[in-house]
Amino acid sequence: MNKIIFPDGFIWGAATASYQIEGAWNEDGKGESIWDIASHTPGKIKNGDKGDIACDHYHRYKEDVQLMKKLGLNAYRFSISWPRIFPSGTGKVNQKGLLFYDKLINELLANEIEPVVTLYHWDLPVSLQKIGGWESLEVVEAYVDYATCIFNHFGDRVKMWITFNEPMVFTLGFYAEGFFGERNVRGGIMATQYVNVAHAKAVEAYRLSPYSDGKIGITLDLSPVYPKTDSSLDKMAVTIVDGVTNRLFLDPVLKASYPRDILRIFKDIFNLPPIPKEDLQLLKNNPIDFLGINNYFCERVHAEKPGDLIDIEALLKKEKIEGREYSEMGWEVYPEGLYDLLMRVDKDYNHPIIYITENGMACKDDKIINGIVQDDDRLSYLKRYFAAAHQAIRDGVNLKGYFVWSLMDNFEWLEGYSKRFGLIRIDYKTQERIWKKSAHWYRNVIAENGFDIDS
Ligand code: FCB
Repeated sequence: MNKIIFPDGFIWGAATASYQIEGAWNEDGKGESIWDIASHTPGKIKNGDKGDIACDHYHRYKEDVQLMKKLGLNAYRFSISWPRIFPSGTGKVNQKGLLFYDKLINELLANEIEPVVTLYHWDLPVSLQKIGGWESLEVVEAYVDYATCIFNHFGDRVKMWITFNEPMVFTLGFYAEGFFGERNVRGGIMATQYVNVAHAKAVEAYRLSPYSDGKIGITLDLSPVYPKTDSSLDKMAVTIVDGVTNRLFLDPVLKASYPRDILRIFKDIFNLPPIPKEDLQLLKNNPIDFLGINNYFCERVHAEKPGDLIDIEALLKKEKIEGREYSEMGWEVYPEGLYDLLMRVDKDYNHPIIYITENGMACKDDKIINGIVQDDDRLSYLKRYFAAAHQAIRDGVNLKGYFVWSLMDNFEWLEGYSKRFGLIRIDYKTQERIWKKSAHWYRNVIAENGFDIDS
């Protein structure tokens, strides 16, 4: 027996996001989000999949809370669909939208599961994209109004808030890949700054709201970056990629600053204006209570010649390296990377309180025996990542909880339903929920607050 036990009070959870599970895309007065448009655009999503029904969670939330209860979850992280609350982004509140989340939150609390709410997990109301999306100050103001409405309505029952999920993906990522039409890297960089302003203003609004006795933070997608070889060019590539994918997002929310080396590179290439002083002040005045980290993989970067160093997208191309382990997403499985990442954030950012707000693995899940999905690969992944997190806690990291992505299989954005991340399998034809081996194992982990690493 080689048992790992987590600290008392450690929070075990699972995570989802509104568009990925809810369905009911046009019910009860909901407005359209940019993902409804993407879903309905031929050729955009793999296999023509749509989020119209997804896991039908909008109608099956009670059954899903029972699944959580059976798993023994301490907490459940989900996001609110902005266009359910404000169908056109601003203006009149849709009461039926509030009602759905009232029912979900009350159901969670009645089952002793703590609701952890993400305000924005990528489903921007379409009308706000039309006026400039995250490059527009009007959208920033609309977000703060939306956040304020949510804090006022649910703040009596929700005590853990996340302003944004993965700003890098919906700013730099979406803009660079041309999600909104033309590729527009400059727009993506500007959007990161607007999102930071929106984030800080939402934190400010929370502190001023009637129920401000909870905690508020942000979720960043972070990955440790390693050089592919020992060359000095590869080491320089590490500094740049780490700067653009990690420090550019960590520094504003934890140090109220932007990494100078990266700003210099951006300025040279894109002729960007300086960051307004008042934006930095706003970030400084509104620190977070905790940092949410989503981690799925590590980066290994390589540059052949000095010119390669400024082509960040090329540096981030994921090539498979002989002998390494990859998930169905093509992401490198590297639990040591989670350990390195946690230690580094702890050291460089003054020992913040951290939650892993997402971690998990897409697997084939093609074997079902006696009604149980045989996802040994996912189970092994979770075991090794949990062990890495535990080691980081032993070495001093202030890690307070872990949310597995995801509670159930769901609409994996551009990949549609082709990738399965759930602890629970969804049969999309019948909407049946089917337990996987990893879910049974996770239930024991939660019950014992630990597990035997050798079994
Ligand atoms: C993260 C997203 C989440 C999910 C996982 C696999 O980047 O936050 O919605 O798609 O990846």
